[in-house]
Amino acid sequence: MLNGVFFVCLSLSLYSAGSSLSCRWMNHKYRELSEKSLDLIDTMANNSTNTTEDAEVDFPNHLYNQASKASAEDKLHFTVQVLEEIVSLFEEDHSNASWENKEENFLHVVTQQVEGLHSCFGSQGHKKKNKKLHMYFKRLSSHVLEKMGHSAESWELIRKEMKTHLIRADLLALSLLTN
Ligand SMILES: *[C@@H]1O[C@H](CO)[C@@H](O)[C@H](O)[C@H]1NC(C)=O
Ligand SMILES: *[C@@H]1O[C@H](CO)[C@@H](O)[C@H](O)[C@H]1NC(C)=O
Ligand SMILES: *[C@@H]1O[C@H](CO)[C@@H](O)[C@H](O)[C@H]1NC(C)=O
Ligand SMILES: *[C@@H]1O[C@H](CO)[C@@H](O)[C@H](O)[C@H]1NC(C)=O
Repeated sequence: MLNGVFFVCLSLSLYSAGSSLSCRWMNHKYRELSEKSLDLIDTMANNSTNTTEDAEVDFPNHLYNQASKASAEDKLHFTVQVLEEIVSLFEEDHSNASWENKEENFLHVVTQQVEGLHSCFGSQGHKKKNKKLHMYFKRLSSHVLEKMGHSAESWELIRKEMKTHLIRADLLALSLLTN
């Protein structure tokens, strides 16, 4: 009985935590920008590289699985961190990927997504970063980009991996949308 009451209270508080995060920006702008960033990362594809191999770093499925069970606020924080880590990874030397400034448009849109999502946090703005997620991005930097000399091939591997992140982070963020 007590367990039942506890469960109902917990559900109610999770529910209200969820609805308090339903910010207007999220409902009106998020989808448009996330579709745009997915389109833009496609335009950066390099079909002349050999990317039959995968990045030597496993995709952090477990971190997404954890995040998908977390509170609305934590989902949002996780999504923001993913987008911020993507932006900082693309700041590394990409002179061997001939993107002709396409990456600037892409990063501009991702930065708009980050800024918009920040507006959803309200007062409880800052939160500790997910260390494992951060370490994963560090490994991509050292085990893929540095190891392969920031070559066009290494950037194509990273680009594909980042596309997967955009899709996964999107699913997480869209699960927060109110109808
Ligand atoms: C690369 O390949 C994809 C699918 O195979 C195609 O849609 C895209 O237009 C190609 N891009 C370039 C720059 O050739
Ligand atoms: C692509 O892979 C094949 C076989 O692994 C190799 O012979 C070829 O040189 C590679 N091409 C490039 C551009 O790296
Ligand atoms: C694609 O990769 C090749 C090397 O395989 C590189 O010479 C070329 O500049 C790259 N193009 C783009 C658009 O990154
Ligand atoms: C990257 O480009 C530089 C020249 O800008 C070249 O010296 C270097 O070998 C390239 N690295 C790879 C792995 O292609």
